[in-house]
Amino acid sequence: RNGTAIRKKLHFSKTKRRLPQALIVGVRKCGTRALLEMLFLHPKIQKAAGEVHFFDRDENYNLGLEWYRQKMPYSFFDQVTIEKSPSYFVTPEVPERIRAMNASIRLLLILREPVTRAISDYTQLKSLAASTTPQTKINQQKSFEELAIKANGEVNSSYRPIAISIYHTYVLQWLEIFPRNQILIVNGDRLIEDPVWEIQKIESFLGLEPKITKDNFYFNQTKGFYCMKTDGSEHCLHESKGRKHPRVEPAVVTKLRT
Ligand code: A3P
Repeated sequence: RNGTAIRKKLHFSKTKRRLPQALIVGVRKCGTRALLEMLFLHPKIQKAAGEVHFFDRDENYNLGLEWYRQKMPYSFFDQVTIEKSPSYFVTPEVPERIRAMNASIRLLLILREPVTRAISDYTQLKSLAASTTPQTKINQQKSFEELAIKANGEVNSSYRPIAISIYHTYVLQWLEIFPRNQILIVNGDRLIEDPVWEIQKIESFLGLEPKITKDNFYFNQTKGFYCMKTDGSEHCLHESKGRKHPRVEPAVVTKLRT
C-alpha cells in the first residue's frame, strides 16, 4: 500500500495542468466529439472535460489564461493537451484571441458535407426544443425544407443551420490570422467511414508517433457507427451522436448544395 501511495505521489508531481497545444475549433455537428474521443485513444493526448468556451464567451475570457489553464487536465511534459469548443469557429473574436495565447498552436477544423451538417444541426435543435423557449418550439415544428428555403424560393441563409454550413465565410477570418499549415482540415464524412485513416493524418500533424490502429475500433451494427476499444473495454459515443435524420426533399438538398 505504501508503494502505491508513493507511485501516485510521483505521478502527481510529474504532471501539471498546461494550456492546450492544439484545439478543435469546430464545426458543430461535424463530428467534433468523435474526433476528440478518438484522439484521446493516443497515450500522448490529454483532453479537457466538456467544452470550455474560453475564447468565445467574454465572461470566461475576461477571467484570464490562468482560469483557462485550471480547466485543463493534468499532463506530462511530452503530452499534447487538446480542448474542443465548436462555437470557436463562428465567433469573430476567437482567432485573434487564440493567437494572443499561442501563435504556433495547431488547429483542427472538422468539416462535413455542408447540407448533411445543416440537417444534423436542425435535427439537434428539434430534439432540444422541448426544453427551450416557446418561439424555438414553434420554429422546430417546421420542417427542414420550410426553414431552409424562403417562401420566394431563395435559400434562407439567415437560418442558423444554413449560415454555419457556409464555411468559407468563417474560414477567411481564420486564414487572416493563422498560416494555412497550422490548420488541419479533418474530413468528418471520412471520419465516420474510416476513422483510422483520418486519425492517422492527425497524429502526423500533431507530431505524434502513430499509435492508433484498426484494433482501436469496431463497427457497432446497432449504433451504425464505429465505436472504440481501449484496454479490453469498448465504448460508443452518447446516443445524441448519430441521430436519425429526417428525410429531406431531394430538390431542396440539390438547391442547397448548388
Ligand atoms: P448526427 O448525430 O447528426 O449523425 P458533434 O460531436 O460535432 O456534435 O457531431 C455529431 C456528429 O458526429 C453526429 O451527427 C455523427 O454523424 C458524427 N459522428 C462521427 N463519428 C461518429 C461516431 N463514431 N459515433 C457517433 N457519431 C459520430
